[in-house]
Amino acid sequence: MNAIDNTTPKTVLITGCSSGIGRAAAHRFAQAGWRVAATMRNTGDAGDLAELPNVLVHALDVTDQASVKAAIDATLARFGRIDAVINNAGFGLFGPFETASDAVIERQFNTNVFGVFNVIRAVLPALRSQGGGVIVNVASVGGLTTLPFNSLYHATKYAVVGFTEGLNHELAQFGIRAKFVAPGGVSTDFAGRSLSVTFADQNHPYAASVAKAMEAWGSRRGGYATPAQTAEAIFTAATDDTAQVRYVCGADAESLLATRAKLDDAGYLQLVRQSFGLDAQSAT
Ligand SMILES: NC(=O)c1ccc[n+]([C@@H]2O[C@H](COP(=O)([O-])OP(=O)(O)OC[C@H]3O[C@@H](n4cnc5c(N)ncnc54)[C@H](OP(=O)(O)O)[C@@H]3O)[C@@H](O)[C@H]2O)c1
Repeated sequence: MNAIDNTTPKTVLITGCSSGIGRAAAHRFAQAGWRVAATMRNTGDAGDLAELPNVLVHALDVTDQASVKAAIDATLARFGRIDAVINNAGFGLFGPFETASDAVIERQFNTNVFGVFNVIRAVLPALRSQGGGVIVNVASVGGLTTLPFNSLYHATKYAVVGFTEGLNHELAQFGIRAKFVAPGGVSTDFAGRSLSVTFADQNHPYAASVAKAMEAWGSRRGGYATPAQTAEAIFTAATDDTAQVRYVCGADAESLLATRAKLDDAGYLQLVRQSFGLDAQSAT
């Protein structure tokens, strides 16, 4: 069944539109003539989105089910339907797992995983009753492979990847598709204001390896994709009318996965550790 009705104006709801990929995605859909519910925690961050025709700026905190429902209700009231949902809101968590507090782990999962659940569960009745739709979750290449000192972030994005693929088995009967986009590095606020750290103690046994990994992370930023390039992949996923589930985007993401496919687990993990200056640790 066609997940998108091509004869009527289409509506997309996007989370996390205050900056970065979400904001670029809102612009991309608006440029294509879609009606856009551009949601964000603080609507004061809407900027030029507030001035675009056919863009509804609405508050939505993915960890707050009442705000999720209010945003969906307002979108349906304004536009009458929701054809696509883009679960983009999220933040990064860097540092050794051992030093992570329960509070920061809960915040990471509440946003990156339960936030996605909250939005999808709340929007499904509308998608089912209108006979279809498409859900695009912004996962990460970090939901398909791993790099040092991101284990908790990886845990959330692997969860999103598995959840997304699994949903298709139960939603196909209603003409609803679930897809995920897996970007590599993207130049956004993600490594700045949207990054939490588990680690502060410079005398901790992890301190030297964390410092090396941070340096390696810093040197990778030159090859990052733009938010607009990532938004293009999201737009393709939402509109290509195929059953494709996984959309890897970014040259670094493709290259990382190609390397991962060529090597066994031990070889891959050792290569990654070496490239992050952590080669003293055994791969066996
Ligand atoms: N940048 C990368 O390298 C990269 C790579 C792969 C995947 N991703 C994924 O891409 C997505 C977007 O990140 P970005 O790179 O565009 O970073 P960004 O510019 O920092 O944007 C993150 C967005 O998420 C929002 N957000 C955070 N917690 C929220 C909550 N509880 N409810 C609603 N919105 C919330 C932020 O809102 P506030 O303004 O209110 O904080 C902001 O709009 C994330 O899911 C991230 O994991 C990013």
